[in-house]
Amino acid sequence: MNAPRIRIPDFKGKKARGQKIAMLTAYDATMARLLDRAGVDALLVGDSLGMVVLGYENTLAVTLDDMIHHTRAVVRGAERALVVADMPFLTYQVSVAEAVRNAGRLLQEGGATAVKLEGGRPVIDVVRRLVDVGIPVMGHLGLQPQSVHQVGGYVRRATQPQEADTLVADAIALQDAGAFAVVLESIPEDVARRATASLDIPTIGIGAGPDCDGQVLVSHDMLGLFDRFVPSFVKQYANLADTIAAATQSYVDDVRAGRYPQSLSKVAGPPSH
Ligand code: KIV
Repeated sequence: MNAPRIRIPDFKGKKARGQKIAMLTAYDATMARLLDRAGVDALLVGDSLGMVVLGYENTLAVTLDDMIHHTRAVVRGAERALVVADMPFLTYQVSVAEAVRNAGRLLQEGGATAVKLEGGRPVIDVVRRLVDVGIPVMGHLGLQPQSVHQVGGYVRRATQPQEADTLVADAIALQDAGAFAVVLESIPEDVARRATASLDIPTIGIGAGPDCDGQVLVSHDMLGLFDRFVPSFVKQYANLADTIAAATQSYVDDVRAGRYPQSLSKVAGPPSH
């Protein structure tokens, strides 16, 4: 029998039971199927899509239609994992009404179970309204890639006491507004520990130390697929970029040397496509 699908209340239940949550990004059906089969609890269709799949410099150019397209693919590949879709830049900052419509499209057309958006108290009205109309929300505090220009780069956040206090207060505000989990990105371990201890909903860390209730990584970083820039906190569990390059080199060599393909009369079995 297949393992039961992870649902929103399972997140809080896992925190209450002290069970860590494992989350990774996915952007297509094949990768979603592989990660799901390996047992991840949740798949994030992150707007990191812009950098690791679409080749942009940052996440700002990603559109709602991009996100819907990739979310549909991930949903088709995921059987057990809960699928969360990022709300891209400018799809929730303009007005609460626009945010509801755009988040609604991620669920209705994309098939996501929840949306994620960046920010704390400045977006709290949006979070409250989305939750009120039945759209589960994951918050995202600390380093917020959509504010890259405001901050001047991808820098560690909440390193000063006042900023740390603000972050913890934002996390509590998100919980009070009904968010079911909060991503904490690139913040000191002690701040992540404080936020985690202050909340009943789980914190999902990325570059925030071991004391969060779960962890998320960009799958292309942790699998060694994205070779442009890898944050220092990422553990690379494979080096698929090298594997792909070596396999491709062998294929190119075989084609050029006439070793591939063999004549069909010499190959056993039917063609696979
Ligand atoms: O877009 C993304 O991949 C993310 C993760 C880094 C949390 O937001």
